[in-house]
Amino acid sequence: MKIALVGAGGYGGAYTHFFQAGLVPDLKLDAVVEPYIEKAASADWIAAQQIPVYPTLEALYEVLCPDLVIISTPIPLHVPQAVFCMEHGSHVLCEKPLTPSYEDALLLKQVAERTGKKLGVGFQWSFSDTMQFLKADMAQGVLGRPLFFKTHISWVRPETYYSESNWKGRIRNDAGDLVCDSILTNATAHYLHNIFFLNGDKPETSAMPTELKGFLGRVYPIETFDTCFVEGALPNGCRFLHIASHGAETNSEPKLEYAFENATVYFDSNTDPTLYAVFKDGQRKDYGQPLSEREVSQKLSRMVEAINNDTLPCCGVDTILPHLVACKKLLEQVPIHTYPEEDLCLQLRNGSWFTYARGLYEEMDRHYQAGTIPEGAVTVQL
Ligand SMILES: NC(=O)c1ccc[n+]([C@@H]2O[C@H](COP(=O)([O-])OP(=O)(O)OC[C@H]3O[C@@H](n4cnc5c(N)ncnc54)[C@H](O)[C@@H]3O)[C@@H](O)[C@H]2O)c1
Repeated sequence: MKIALVGAGGYGGAYTHFFQAGLVPDLKLDAVVEPYIEKAASADWIAAQQIPVYPTLEALYEVLCPDLVIISTPIPLHVPQAVFCMEHGSHVLCEKPLTPSYEDALLLKQVAERTGKKLGVGFQWSFSDTMQFLKADMAQGVLGRPLFFKTHISWVRPETYYSESNWKGRIRNDAGDLVCDSILTNATAHYLHNIFFLNGDKPETSAMPTELKGFLGRVYPIETFDTCFVEGALPNGCRFLHIASHGAETNSEPKLEYAFENATVYFDSNTDPTLYAVFKDGQRKDYGQPLSEREVSQKLSRMVEAINNDTLPCCGVDTILPHLVACKKLLEQVPIHTYPEEDLCLQLRNGSWFTYARGLYEEMDRHYQAGTIPEGAVTVQL
């Protein structure tokens, strides 16, 4: 299998690391497309491995038609690059978010169907042992009916996170391309998507919300939102809550609780890398370590398995649609609350300036514990 990586800098470094660290021992990286290779952290390793680097996809395909192309480039490039690769005969694993728009996601699905190529989307948890085992147990009724799934993430970000980017927190980038970036579509997308994924009725489908309500906020001066409280219901009756912010005082890594009839699943990456269930009789079952690099690298190894076995990728276009629809409807219908100047604090930490809304972390924590969202949350028409 010939594999090419498009976009080796930034998050593309995670993919070169999979190869470099021996996490995908049966696979080899055959080519890289990267116009700014000198800026990539893995440039020396790529050179030492004598992996050819091309400035454009066109230049790559003059020499090689890869079986699989990994796309890890800025969001507006995903559609043209994925179309180009599939039209030229390659399967594609594209980083999340696949596209900012629902229509473009469907267009990519059509191209994949017409060309007979597989299109995977790099939501790593969907490919991981942990979520695969958990979803299989859910399908077999081991945990009982899913009742209430909740997640909490408070990733503090410095002002430069937004001010130095030409697309973060924006509807369109400087070039006018749609990006619709927010904390929900990008940084914490995995955790809402995972709730939909686990409740999907097939291994590779996700559940579409039947009810959706949101409170969106902005601490930083951005177009979209850096804070969200989202709740809703899924067709199987499971309710969900997703709480996330880049503008709270305290940093807290992802934590979740998934309550079922017979057990509760716990994961708190602040204290323990293992996701586990505790059953009503007190028994504990460990599912894995979904943030470990071994499990993250499974998005590549399981994508290759899907190609070799001619099966559906663990996460494809259909799998991401519920998350895409939820993000789109929330952004369209929920007004964004700007935290008032008098509630904001500016703080210097390790040489960087951070803004946070006073009391926001406590509010997030309180709602997470209680399973509620703030007053003023708006119901979305689905
Ligand atoms: N799965 C995850 O957990 C995760 C985490 C971070 C980022 N991402 C995703 O990875 C993707 C890339 O994000 P990033 O932050 O690395 O972006 P980035 O802006 O740092 O760009 C990534 C690389 O693409 C290169 N590039 C630009 N134009 C190119 C072109 N025409 N052809 C080939 N390469 C080109 C850039 O030089 C850069 O090295 C995004 O979709 C992002 O959402 C995923």
